[in-house]
Amino acid sequence: MPSRLRNALLALGSAVAAVALFGAPSVAVAASPEYIPGSDGAGDPYFPLAGNGGTDVVHYDLDLDYTPAPPEPAPLEGRLDGVATIDLIPTQDLSRFNLDLRGLTATEVTVAGKPATFTQTSNELVITPTKKVKAGKKTQVVVTYGGTTTQPTDIEGALYGWVTTRDGAMVVSEPDGSATWFPVNDHPTDKSTYSFEITVPEGLVAVANGLPSGPATTVDGKTTWYWDAPDPMAAYLATASVGDYVVNEYVAANGTPIFDAVDPARLGDPSASLALTSDMLVFFEGLYGPYPFNSYGAIVDDDTVGYALETQTRSFFSRTAREGTVAHELAHQWMGDHVSPNRWADIWLNEGWATYSQWMWAEHRGVDTAQAAFDDYLAIPADDEEWALVVADPGPLGLFLNPVYDRGAATLHALRVEIGDDAFFELTQTWVERFGGGTASTADFIALSEEVSGQELETFFDVWLYTPEKPVIW
Ligand code: TRP
Ligand code: ZN
Repeated sequence: MPSRLRNALLALGSAVAAVALFGAPSVAVAASPEYIPGSDGAGDPYFPLAGNGGTDVVHYDLDLDYTPAPPEPAPLEGRLDGVATIDLIPTQDLSRFNLDLRGLTATEVTVAGKPATFTQTSNELVITPTKKVKAGKKTQVVVTYGGTTTQPTDIEGALYGWVTTRDGAMVVSEPDGSATWFPVNDHPTDKSTYSFEITVPEGLVAVANGLPSGPATTVDGKTTWYWDAPDPMAAYLATASVGDYVVNEYVAANGTPIFDAVDPARLGDPSASLALTSDMLVFFEGLYGPYPFNSYGAIVDDDTVGYALETQTRSFFSRTAREGTVAHELAHQWMGDHVSPNRWADIWLNEGWATYSQWMWAEHRGVDTAQAAFDDYLAIPADDEEWALVVADPGPLGLFLNPVYDRGAATLHALRVEIGDDAFFELTQTWVERFGGGTASTADFIALSEEVSGQELETFFDVWLYTPEKPVIW
């Protein structure tokens, strides 16, 4: 007997020791104090119910069957039925645990092949397995669910999640909209791989992340599309958009396979800017290092949610894909997708980098220098509202306010001037290498800036990120 175990046995009462040695009758384990419920959130103060405690999802396999809204005057409602097969690793001994699920109804849940009991509250699917789940032991959870799909909105009232249209669905879930279409640990700190099988009425195309894992198959008027996304991904970046898209596949100059899906009504203007994708990939690889994923491409839908989103490997555009926006969403693949915010308060690291990338792309194209864009921005008067936001803590209602983008970009430009080009571009590449595949915080960014530059930058970042006033001296 290993001495560690012997000591443990000596320390315990004999009945408990017998359980430890010979396996537990279920009653004894149920009473065991270390099996506790996983928490209902990942601990992000902006979205307390987003994500969950006690589990780390390794892989989502989503088998979806979807019918869009019928023609007018029928209500704008679709029907989604899904089976989510979720491989997860418990990070604690669990008596029960949660997944996020909103607006859809779970009808069956199994854990490790055994039926589990479950209840639903507004954002939470609470799962109680018949057998307790042990920390570290990979466990498969299968959730069968479904319901009517509508037009969900985020905390600010913007459309997001599974947005139902007459000819499909626009699926863009930042920051916490994934729960409107699958049971999920919906926080960037839990990245996972994904595979998809999406069945839609024949004639429609379902486009998800990554690459097709086989040719689409059609049976009885329904077509199933197969996708595999093997690069770790935050849930808000998953998509499964559906439409009557025209598909364009090619290989970019850097070798990345491209899969574009464009609504036929939008084939004019957007495709002109999408054609720059290949050059942009080469340009951003020069700045940020190798493109981090197995594929790229765009979804351009004729319907609109009113913004674009950097859905991983497959950026989403509503109606237009202007050049600046195409550059912005592509740059997000490194800055936001590969390196993701650790907390939603860190959103300026996404939007500041993506906007600064637009500035650098415009300079590369000979339109305007990054310095000129910075000077223009700094021409905004000191009493303007633009300066009244703490960009490194904008609040849950402030995630997508203008200063998060533009002051974020200006911060990066000012930093570049402060530490010099060599240190700045070493910082960007080290940032992506060190934090790629995971998440990083503003504190991580400040620490790395100081490490790489050898400069003390506390005042600099205080002025730019934490002071709700126009920067004057830094
Ligand atoms: N992250 C998107 C981008 O900048 C923007 C975004 C997501 C957004 N949700 C939003 C903008 C809601 C406005 C409202 O590429
Ligand atoms: Zn953005």
